[in-house]
Amino acid sequence: MCGITGYIGYDEAAPLLIRALKKLEYRGYDSAGVAIIDNGKIFVRKKKGQIKLLDESLSASTLSGNTGIGHTRWATHGEPSDINSHPHIDAEGRIAIVHNGIIENYVKLKQWLQSRGIVFRSDTDTEVIVHIINYFYRTSQGALLDAVMETLKLLTGSYALAIVSADYPDRIIAARKNCPLITGLGKTGAFIASDVPALLEHTRDLVFLNDGEIAVLYRDHIELRSSEGEVLKRETTHIDWDVESAEKGGYPHFMLKEIFEQSKAMSDALSPRLKMGGPEAAGANKVIDFDEVKLDERWIMARRIVITACGTAYHAGIIGKYAFEHLARIPVEVDIASEYRYRSPIFDKKDIVIVISQSGETADTIAAMRLAKQNGACVFAITNAPGSTLSREADIVMYTYAGPEIAVASTKAFTTQVMCIYLLAIELGRLRKHISGDAYRRYIAALSEIPKQARQILDKKESIQRFAARQFNKTKMFFMGRQFDYPVSMESALKLKEISYTHSEAFAAGELKHGPIALVDSSTLVVTFATQNALFEKIASNIREVTSRGAASLVITWEDVDSFDTVSEAIFTLPKTEDCLSPLLAVIPAQLFAYYCAIQRGNDPDKPRNLAKSVTVE
Ligand code: F6R
Repeated sequence: MCGITGYIGYDEAAPLLIRALKKLEYRGYDSAGVAIIDNGKIFVRKKKGQIKLLDESLSASTLSGNTGIGHTRWATHGEPSDINSHPHIDAEGRIAIVHNGIIENYVKLKQWLQSRGIVFRSDTDTEVIVHIINYFYRTSQGALLDAVMETLKLLTGSYALAIVSADYPDRIIAARKNCPLITGLGKTGAFIASDVPALLEHTRDLVFLNDGEIAVLYRDHIELRSSEGEVLKRETTHIDWDVESAEKGGYPHFMLKEIFEQSKAMSDALSPRLKMGGPEAAGANKVIDFDEVKLDERWIMARRIVITACGTAYHAGIIGKYAFEHLARIPVEVDIASEYRYRSPIFDKKDIVIVISQSGETADTIAAMRLAKQNGACVFAITNAPGSTLSREADIVMYTYAGPEIAVASTKAFTTQVMCIYLLAIELGRLRKHISGDAYRRYIAALSEIPKQARQILDKKESIQRFAARQFNKTKMFFMGRQFDYPVSMESALKLKEISYTHSEAFAAGELKHGPIALVDSSTLVVTFATQNALFEKIASNIREVTSRGAASLVITWEDVDSFDTVSEAIFTLPKTEDCLSPLLAVIPAQLFAYYCAIQRGNDPDKPRNLAKSVTVE
């Protein structure tokens, strides 16, 4: 999705804006631009393509000035082009804006503006905003803030906006509705951006705007206002992430770095929640002890858990279904947030609703959360983003502590989400008396081993790399598994298609004969997850069914299992853990496989085509 930034201060704005835009690159974009105010005039430079083209253009002929806004565009209305790139300016060249989001009523507004003689330069929805601001600016005797507030009242849809005016070089006005916007005061001035990494080198004390709020940035202070213009007070949120953790740190890509960070990230998600002592059931051993969550009567008596999320986070939710049902014997319904929000779901006061989102800013997940809250549900959020909309609006928040995830394809966010789910499921299993003291201790001991076991898998990355080098040009790649292996198959297929652009699908292995097998031939690779001991024979016959039709095969199973030796030409083994915890480990070779296939195909895994990191619009 688009990224926006702005700076007003004592330093040259252009290089700071470019640095911030580079930190927002991961969101996905097809063009970039800046507007700088200099000597009472606005100068705009924008380029289709990578930020480096904009940077080169600015190096060749710089724009000077201490106030500016910048943008990375992810095209929604109008093709990627210089003209459609942001910033957009009004007809008189006195106001410039950048926008993330979609203005749903732009056609009507455009017609109205055109009837007043305004000529549009671009095909974007955004351009209407700047012309309307100009209209109100002219009719409100030059009060820019009033003009912005009047304009916002006319807009439906979503926006994060940053606005500068040549008449007000001493300020930037920013506003948000359903798109993230964060501001902070650094040593040399005030900054605004769509996401935390763009601000971290200047300050870690940030103000997260709420929907409907407006920020007015001056070089030495920031004013927060309501949509009606009242001045608001807001505590800053301190962000612990260091700057380095948002850098590549010697890895060729963020994705590989983040795959390798999983051992630490899972340990960070786990360790603060495992403490000595506690309930009788666990004796004097480590027990799960959440600071942030109290699994009270409501959880113990819950009739049902409802989980909703998008993409990879949805797959974590499906693992949640298997985990809560298996470990705590509580029925779980999982739904894709974009379906949930529109299908008029049935609410029960005795439900717990869990929303999962790495960014905490996914439009559909936020809408699903709001719907659940409106219907009286207690919403529990699992997120990686302190200060995000989800973290502020949910009733209870559990952080994944994955650290910043920059690569578009989610890896460590997923495994830490799954780790949080297991902690909840195991503890709930104990409280609902489904798990015995012995089993509880066994699961906790197994979870404690996971970070080390993840490292052991990562140490074998070359074998996956070699396998990818042999198989990357297969035209179809399928993933299959049963029980806990099924959502891992779904996640693996998603990862592969996102970055290698290979046609990939996931099947519950038992479904193979009900249709998918028609697709299997010698141009197919089938990756099978086989970690559910009770189902080894069944999955072995599924593998025979595909190899006998010419498919290449890789089986991902436990060490010391020989059930697949004669069935599959390639086997990757995982250090043994409890069968029901297998997703935490089994997904790692699949992430590596997707990464190496993307590299073999010459793709940039950090910037997959057509994809954005944070999907802040529907
Ligand atoms: C896939 C991926 C996406 C996200 C989805 C939800 O690699 O990253 O499928 O999982 O867009 O994003 P969040 O978790 O931020 O709500």
